[in-house]
Amino acid sequence: MSIPFIDLKSQYSRIESRVKDGLDRVLAHGAYVMGPEIAELEKELAAFCGAKHALACSSGTDALLLALMAKNTGPGDAVLTTPFTFCATAEVIALLGATPVFVDIDPDTFNIDPDSLKLAIQALRSGDPDVYPLPSQAKAAEYPGKGPHARLIPKGLISVDLFGLPCDYDAINPILEEEGLWLLVDAAQSFGSLYKGISPCTLGDTACTSFFPAKPLGCYGDGGMCFTNDTRLHQVLESLRVHGQGKNRYDNVRLGLNARMDTMQAAVLLAKMSIFPGEIELRNSVARTYNNLLQEARDITVPSFLQDRQSAWAQYSLLARDHEHRQAVFDSLKKNDVPWSVYYPLPLHLQDVFSYLGYSSGAFPVSEEMSERIFSLPMHPYLDRKDQGKVARAVIEGSRR
Ligand SMILES: Cc1ncc(COP(=O)(O)O)c(C=O)c1O
Repeated sequence: MSIPFIDLKSQYSRIESRVKDGLDRVLAHGAYVMGPEIAELEKELAAFCGAKHALACSSGTDALLLALMAKNTGPGDAVLTTPFTFCATAEVIALLGATPVFVDIDPDTFNIDPDSLKLAIQALRSGDPDVYPLPSQAKAAEYPGKGPHARLIPKGLISVDLFGLPCDYDAINPILEEEGLWLLVDAAQSFGSLYKGISPCTLGDTACTSFFPAKPLGCYGDGGMCFTNDTRLHQVLESLRVHGQGKNRYDNVRLGLNARMDTMQAAVLLAKMSIFPGEIELRNSVARTYNNLLQEARDITVPSFLQDRQSAWAQYSLLARDHEHRQAVFDSLKKNDVPWSVYYPLPLHLQDVFSYLGYSSGAFPVSEEMSERIFSLPMHPYLDRKDQGKVARAVIEGSRR
């Protein structure tokens, strides 16, 4: 039998009765939308992260959209983010008419590089793309006579804790504070991780996560959550989640969305929470075992275990020497019936959808190089030593070709 990339069946066999009991309760009370499990889940997950408020919603993408809407993000706003992420991170910025401004990543963590962040803000403020690559809307030279601030005003950063590893928040936060910018943490992949013992879901003005089934904590459909310590912001998020509702359902005070989480998904997540902390430990031990087994691989860079952070290991990702070397590893994985994935084969600034930003190839060299070299191996809490040995042998074999 081939090795699954993620294994939700083994997980289900552990929680089957809890999931069924939870779903039966929902079927019995019949409150399919905003039933009592929603508030129960929000309370449990807020406590798990140490956040004051949590708001369950329809997906990780909608969580980001709600958070940006609550910040009144719109045309003329520049929102900084990484080009080495899933498209949703930048998509929500553009959907609101604001402009994504990309910042390159650190090759060791694949997360936003704080030094580049500083330069990008400086470039935005001056409208000078010689300081750092800028989208065409932000270049003073393209709008002569309008002055540097005529087009785009930097408002905030969406950081992404890629593959589950938190960003370097002690380096990022002072930069944002000095510049008066907000931080929205895209923790879609990092729910369950820790930065200096603290959940990244509490390290921004707002944080969002995803419960897509493949995520470290996944439901059985789509789901997401926003976290904040700001009570006023939470109230706005509550209103935005239900069509900008005011005092009641037929009082509408702002434009909003229908972005509620189904009660059934909350019941599934509550059942999964009973084993989630243990699953994060198992993911960490799977990653350690991979790192040990892959010591014999040639020119393969394994992920680092950083002293101050614990990843949620949404993905276990390696770097090959170059594109050809990676292809040789893929050939070996294929021959040995081992699945793999590439996150992400094309950075966002080179995707057609963002071509209007006018970034050229070479603008973010680290992201571009990583997309040529990176690949991810099967990662889930139930991966046994025997299967890990098989995966590692296939990587080692391919790396030596
Ligand atoms: C970094 C990142 N942001 C946002 C999302 C969007 O989450 P969802 O698929 O729940 O809408 C994802 C999901 O893959 C993600 O990986």
